[in-house]
Amino acid sequence: MVEEVKRVAVIGAGTMGSDLSLLFALYDIDVIVTDKSKAVLDALPQKQKKSIDELRQMGITQKTYDEVQNKIAIANSLKEIKDVDFVLEAVAEDLSVKRKVFAELDKLPKNVILATNTSSLTVTDIAKGLKGAERIGGMHFSNPPILSQLAEVVKGEKTSEETLNVISKVAQKIGRVPVMVKKDVPGFVNNRILVGAGMETLWAIHRGEVTPQELDASLRAIGFPMGFAEAVDIIGVDIILALGKHFVKAYGKRFQPPPGLFESMAKEGRLGKKSGKGFYDWSKGPPVIDMSLAGKYDVNRSLAGAANEAFWIIKDEVADPETIDKIVKLGFRSPVGICELADAMGLDNLLNTMKRLLQEYGLEIYKPCPLFEEYVKKGWTGKAAGRGFYKY
Ligand SMILES: NC(=O)c1ccc[n+]([C@@H]2O[C@H](COP(=O)([O-])OP(=O)(O)OC[C@H]3O[C@@H](n4cnc5c(N)ncnc54)[C@H](O)[C@@H]3O)[C@@H](O)[C@H]2O)c1
Repeated sequence: MVEEVKRVAVIGAGTMGSDLSLLFALYDIDVIVTDKSKAVLDALPQKQKKSIDELRQMGITQKTYDEVQNKIAIANSLKEIKDVDFVLEAVAEDLSVKRKVFAELDKLPKNVILATNTSSLTVTDIAKGLKGAERIGGMHFSNPPILSQLAEVVKGEKTSEETLNVISKVAQKIGRVPVMVKKDVPGFVNNRILVGAGMETLWAIHRGEVTPQELDASLRAIGFPMGFAEAVDIIGVDIILALGKHFVKAYGKRFQPPPGLFESMAKEGRLGKKSGKGFYDWSKGPPVIDMSLAGKYDVNRSLAGAANEAFWIIKDEVADPETIDKIVKLGFRSPVGICELADAMGLDNLLNTMKRLLQEYGLEIYKPCPLFEEYVKKGWTGKAAGRGFYKY
């Protein structure tokens, strides 16, 4: 069936939809893009030209915008989407908005496979009550989707095996690595680890203990392609606000963001890269991080949070350590996975960090997962002990 995927529609032409439609075009697949905003659609060619120029400078592609432009068509509304084999939804991270879009997509012929790029909702909730729920699956990319090779593939309650198969094959067709997630939960794996790692850094910024630059320089210094404040700016503060809301609803206070931090940024129009300003000024291009500031933030604090969330993911039976590490490496473009890194650092050390922070700040974000405590109690403290997340 996937051999027949020749024409794709991307719904939403914002941060993700713009790059995702460009990605299809770069792999010679005809794509039709729509958005509810005329201004967004009008600005799309310029935005994609800028993206492809940056990719050329980075040596990621040799193609020019003129060479791919004829692969990208624009539709003024959802109703104009027809004659496609595959649809990827990338509209606002809002359940009612997505459900309305899928109710419309439900009218497409039955053989058209539909995928959602949601970051923090479930496929099951998005597809609930629709006639064609079995042809709807999750296809979650990591931002920037042209640089990150990850595509998490997610089975909703009704998603068919054929749908999952097509989503995986489409991912491969556009040079991504599909990774199946065992359970349809908010944030799947990649975003749970990302937010698990990031939560403490946001509180550290909020408390005035660290500046965004100090944080990002410190995280870059241990091999990450960007720091957490940069990541927030790239993802978009509005998306982070929605994600925070969904995570707190699903998982409670361990994902409680600092009060007012993002609300005030949003109010001031500081949405990140998309609005030209967030933690950083993006108006003249990506911010330059002063690496002499590396070491001003103790990265173990953030890694302890990421390891803690890995334990929750295992406990919730969403993924095993191998899958978590595969997703982290692809999604974060990181040389190591969080489970292998935590094993090398010593799970006892990381657990102590969590406990120390819990005592100091009394916030639930520092509360260790019971499985984390259980491992350390059993002496499964990592590589040196012969057993941690992995057996050695
Ligand atoms: N930003 C990220 O880093 C990231 C990463 C992975 C997944 N996602 C997910 O991808 C989706 C899109 O995120 P984004 O960052 O591109 O958001 P965005 O706000 O930049 O873009 C969303 C676009 O959807 C359009 N839209 C809203 N309602 C619509 C409708 N009914 N019909 C058509 N278009 C509509 C908006 O006009 C906007 O242009 C969200 O579900 C988000 O959670 C985002």
